[in-house]
Amino acid sequence: MGAAAVPALAQTGGAKNIVIASSNGERACAKAMEILRTGGDTLDAVVAGVNINEEDPADDSVGYGGLPNEEGVVELDACVMHGPTRRAGSVASIRGIKTPSKIAKLIMEQTDHIMLVGDNALRFAKAFGFKEENLLTEKSRLAWLVWKQSLRDPRGHNNWTDGLDAPHKQGAGPGAALHERFPGVDPELLAYAWDRAIHPPTGTINCLALNTKGEMSGTTTTSGLAWKIPGRVGDSPIIGAGCYVDQEVGAAGSTGRGEENIRVAGAHTIVENMRHGMSPKDAVMDCLKRVSRNYDHDKKRLAQFDINFYALRKDGVYAGGSLWSGQMSRGKFSPRKFAVNDGGASRLENCVYLYERS
Ligand code: GLY
Repeated sequence: MGAAAVPALAQTGGAKNIVIASSNGERACAKAMEILRTGGDTLDAVVAGVNINEEDPADDSVGYGGLPNEEGVVELDACVMHGPTRRAGSVASIRGIKTPSKIAKLIMEQTDHIMLVGDNALRFAKAFGFKEENLLTEKSRLAWLVWKQSLRDPRGHNNWTDGLDAPHKQGAGPGAALHERFPGVDPELLAYAWDRAIHPPTGTINCLALNTKGEMSGTTTTSGLAWKIPGRVGDSPIIGAGCYVDQEVGAAGSTGRGEENIRVAGAHTIVENMRHGMSPKDAVMDCLKRVSRNYDHDKKRLAQFDINFYALRKDGVYAGGSLWSGQMSRGKFSPRKFAVNDGGASRLENCVYLYERS
């Protein structure tokens, strides 16, 4: 099918203000909607939305308080795409700046380049007055330390835990050992740190917006895979993987294990699927099937990660989809959701999914 397969606005009642995001994006959607309602630009809207997560130390997958790399240093990735001008900006492996989405936008607006990385991206941000800060919180430092101490060499040894000359043996099980090592730390916080150590997350926020003029923009921002090798770049800053916008068709983005998304160029694939007539839901499902195919649909290997895609078509039809129906965290199952705001309060809706998590 050709481009004509995308429904014309006249057939669907026309564009409207609508914002969708990953499940951590209810506040981001609300903020972006507030800006759309006053006639603000779609990119300004989504960036202001995700800035809430970037600046929130409680969101350990994004910006300030994001979980660090294997050396305990927070490294951030982000990208933006502005539909009306078809421009893009991106930053990868930047340290010391809480809001990498703003830097990606700055690169889009103030340079003839698309992407800056590492120390040079930080230098660029500082040239524009951004302040370098320590992005590690006490909570993320604790999670990192617990992860460091959980590592073992083939002899079962780790230099970061008490050694041969320790006065007494650690208690039974990781829980008791942790409490011995971190006396006085809240048990709930230690349980969180242990969960993060053994299940390194690849959280992120993606946010996509459409306004009544039919303009669209998107952004994705992340601290990436926890405990990564310094310099590892995920999908979030890759235009066409972490985010893609063509307002003649729609916008898409992703969260979850970036390595899988890069291999299917997920956001671009989804937009192209919609261009060729698929609904947002089918476009997302097709992309998930491509991820599955890369593992010959071997559910045992696929069960070791999750990946989520979000699609917003130019007529306001949207979908969120995930590889697995939900996730287990600290013994509790939660279904995969995504955030939507179409003018009222933000809400979470269920993702469609490829496989049921048993
Ligand atoms: N999707 C975030 C990452 O893998 O870095």
